[in-house]
Amino acid sequence: MARLLAQARFIIGAFALASLLAFAAPAVAQQPTQVNPTASSVKEERLLKGLKIISGRGTIPDTKSYNLEQPAGRDWRQFHNVTLRWTGAIAILGILVVLVVFYLIRGQVKLESGFSGRRIVRFNAFERFIHWVTATCFIILAISGLNITFGRSLLLPLIGESAFAGWSQWAKYAHNYLSFPFTIGVVVIFLMWIAGNIPNKVDVEWLKRGGGIIGHDHPPAYRFNAGQKAIYWAQIIGGVAIAVTGYLLMFPFYLTDVAGMQTAQMVHAIVAVLFVALMLAHIYIGTIGMEGAFEAMGEGTVDVNWAREHHSLWLEQEMARTGPNESQRQPMATPAE
Ligand code: HEM
Repeated sequence: MARLLAQARFIIGAFALASLLAFAAPAVAQQPTQVNPTASSVKEERLLKGLKIISGRGTIPDTKSYNLEQPAGRDWRQFHNVTLRWTGAIAILGILVVLVVFYLIRGQVKLESGFSGRRIVRFNAFERFIHWVTATCFIILAISGLNITFGRSLLLPLIGESAFAGWSQWAKYAHNYLSFPFTIGVVVIFLMWIAGNIPNKVDVEWLKRGGGIIGHDHPPAYRFNAGQKAIYWAQIIGGVAIAVTGYLLMFPFYLTDVAGMQTAQMVHAIVAVLFVALMLAHIYIGTIGMEGAFEAMGEGTVDVNWAREHHSLWLEQEMARTGPNESQRQPMATPAE
């Protein structure tokens, strides 16, 4: 009897198990694409694919803080850690290589007619003050910004965690506060030099002749030649783009959401590395690239022969405006009468 009961228990048990499996199988088969966020077996990856953002619940007023993960953040991280670093390294090292090769092949653009000893005012004190304030801010902004992009991988291993943390904190303060004089500088430069930077027919001719940078050609130019106008407009457009995106980053979420923040950061960083590359070319031509050029922004005057070779139409205008003797100063040497 006991054996019979044991057999019956076995048969009923097996039947119950088979029925359970039979009902459960179609239910599982029906929901391979559905995600049940509470099931412990659900993988994070599946959730990320199924949802735009994974949010939790919170009690503080800032509802953005409830977002735990958003897949677009991974694309942004990939941009920041890989794409941006490569773009920056190629742009900055690339332009340095180009400038070194150019210098080795072309050498310095010499003043062919030699120094006359007579000088003409090119930039007044106010213009030079604005230029140097903006340039100084730019250099500090560039170094402190590039520290965010490259510092962890390049500088941290060299100077150690404590020094890197201290330096980065000061760099960040500098980046935030110097943004204000930099922005003012960009605006003043725009207003101060726009009159001389409107493109005209002379620029077409200047460009056709390659600016005379190769060989001994001296195409005529007014106060600013086509190359300088290109730098001016790139600086204005780049300056506005970098300032707008920079302030979006500095005052997060006031005007934009997380997607906008990511876009602002990407635009800011790409414009920044291109801007640095452009300014390296600008610094090159204003220093070792061309004889007699630095003095224009250094002390404010240029040699009359320099003006004749590089800005002949401007020299004529200045002569006509002030007369040859008034527009020329002689701080270095008195010409033979
Ligand atoms: C009005 C001017 C500017 C403002 C308001 C500004 C603001 C900012 C802010 C808030 C950040 C984010 C910092 C952080 O993540 O803690 C940043 C990053 C950065 N800035 Fe600027 N910035 C300005 C100009 C410049 C200039 C002129 C350059 C370079 C020429 C520059 C280069 C960079 C770079 C390379 C980064 C790091 C990008 C990254 O790797 O995430 N910035 N800036």
